[in-house]
Amino acid sequence: MPEPRTQLEDISAVLLAQSSSPRQLSKTLEHFVQLCDAAGGIGPDPAFDAWAGDSFLADGVAIAPQAAAHCARDYRRSVVFIRGVYAAIEDAKRRFPNETLHILYAGCGPYATLLLPLLTRFDPAELDVSLLDIHQHSLDSVDAILKHFDLAHYNARTICADACTYRHPCSLHLVVSETMQKSLEQEPQFAVTAQLAPQLHEGGIFIPGKIAVRLSLAQIDEEQEQILDTVDFGNGAPHSNSDHYDLGSVLTLTPEAALPLLQAAVFHEEHGQWELPPVVFEIPALHSPAGFTAELFTRIQVYGAHWLEDYDAEITLPQRRTDLSPLVAGERWEIGYQLGGYPRFDIRRV
Ligand SMILES: C[S@@+](CC[C@H](N)C(=O)[O-])C[C@H]1O[C@@H](n2cnc3c(N)ncnc32)[C@H](O)[C@@H]1O
Repeated sequence: MPEPRTQLEDISAVLLAQSSSPRQLSKTLEHFVQLCDAAGGIGPDPAFDAWAGDSFLADGVAIAPQAAAHCARDYRRSVVFIRGVYAAIEDAKRRFPNETLHILYAGCGPYATLLLPLLTRFDPAELDVSLLDIHQHSLDSVDAILKHFDLAHYNARTICADACTYRHPCSLHLVVSETMQKSLEQEPQFAVTAQLAPQLHEGGIFIPGKIAVRLSLAQIDEEQEQILDTVDFGNGAPHSNSDHYDLGSVLTLTPEAALPLLQAAVFHEEHGQWELPPVVFEIPALHSPAGFTAELFTRIQVYGAHWLEDYDAEITLPQRRTDLSPLVAGERWEIGYQLGGYPRFDIRRV
């Protein structure tokens, strides 16, 4: 049986190799999950304690440690993020030669999945790593896993804090945060980005680099079958689906845009909610409306060429908006992103 550290090096080699097959990738992530579960004592469970283990914070829901552990198994998501983070660290090393890179991973969960498998690829002196989560139970697991994989000599610490209010003691070269569900609902990715992106060093990198949410009319049931058979591996340019009636962008979250968008939010007395400036759209006349539904599509540029497209991951599945049904050509609606404890898009007739 190889040493734990060697096992981790083998895991990271498979996850980064372009030649790895989807089967190898998902098996390797499952192996990582098993090792982390054994070392840290938190096993993956998508519906653990349904809500009871979640933390309801001012800017969104922080999912329970067991549910956060389960995210690692969404293998396309994990692999595209891990490859993006690796490329970003390599770029940051070139941008900031001879500097120790200060990295903050906000919402690291119990396994720090998007960064921990990469640590052995770097010299400990190159990195200063802060692993932050609101759940101390997850951080205890991360500490145990660092020890298990013989990474305790890295300059890595765990921090229990709310990422939406956290201030780091120095400027950051890289921030990584995946605190989202599809169409930016429920979890606090928007508020986390608005809080942490301004703390980047000039030329620093925020991951993910872009989250684009668009509203489209689509025939999802047919499309799902076709797309699931044909998706490539998230390393190309974003594709557009020509069978969609694209009604336009409803929110593009980038590190640069997050704080200005937050500052443009307006308080709506009637909902008691802060909301970003809404977008108005009109339902078009469809050639053959049968089977079309309104859907929010989410695409994520993790870093550079590392994209998650529609259907690649749980967080890029379409979200149906039945509030627009039945679709009536010519009707005008507006859609606004509501902030607060349960962030979500609100749609209403103009
Ligand atoms: C979707 S899970 C992702 C876990 C892990 N980063 C991964 O990608 O596999 C989100 C994690 O972020 C944490 N989280 C959510 N909101 C947070 C906040 N405001 N402050 C700190 N941690 C937060 C949750 O506790 C959870 O561990």
